[in-house]
Amino acid sequence: MFERKNTEARRIPRHIALIMDGNGRWAKKRMLPRSLGHKQGMERMIGLLEHAFGLGVDYVTLFALSTENLQRPKEELDGLYDLIRQHFAESMERICSRGVRLRVIGDRTLLPKDVQEILQDSEKKTLSYEGKGLNVALCYGGRAEIVRAVNNAVKAGTSVTEESFSKLLYTQGQPEPELMIRTGKESRLSNFLLYQAAYTELYFSDKLFPDFSDEELERAIVWYSKRIRRFGKTDEQLETEKK
Ligand code: FPP
Repeated sequence: MFERKNTEARRIPRHIALIMDGNGRWAKKRMLPRSLGHKQGMERMIGLLEHAFGLGVDYVTLFALSTENLQRPKEELDGLYDLIRQHFAESMERICSRGVRLRVIGDRTLLPKDVQEILQDSEKKTLSYEGKGLNVALCYGGRAEIVRAVNNAVKAGTSVTEESFSKLLYTQGQPEPELMIRTGKESRLSNFLLYQAAYTELYFSDKLFPDFSDEELERAIVWYSKRIRRFGKTDEQLETEKK
């Protein structure tokens, strides 16, 4: 169980998506290697997960490595893989052993074999958990996810509806993210959850990811809780529906 946290937020999103940007700049500012920025980012990531689940969030999707990131220098990628080798299993155990189902989403075949095994072992330990979920996107691209789903539908020889299509995505069975947070002063989606984020509230923070504190997360959730989500309708229609 997660320690239940109090909050002034009126409404807690069931699903938060998080683009963890700014590790490299955080390290550069301190004249440290980028790999140390990622390490600091991973520690922050665990703290934020603990906080989010404690606030009552049910699903979190983290953008840890995009397909495009695979073009980064070998040294940086090796640093990230080493981070997974050394800390992933233990970090996931800390969070997921409290009833969170872990799914690694993306094309993991692009990762070194031993890293794939670590991911699979961590996922396996959580197979029986339901209700709370953590998706870690590695070698992930939103367009690739959509193309993969289309190909699966074509292979099955079926036409799709919006609802049936969403069942072909990695996030099948989960609520769509109501809130997406991107740190690091950039305001773009960078190919993250393109289909699922159609109605997601987007929150951009100037903080570099390792500096994105629990309080910053709460600020984002309070901001979200004040948004009026119309889904294309008018305020008057929403009022009538409430009655
Ligand atoms: C983007 O920041 C961040 C990444 C490409 C990696 C994110 C990884 C972690 C937070 C930790 C590792 C977690 C797992 C699950 C492996 P950037 O490097 O692009 O930062 P910059 O824009 O400042 O250069």
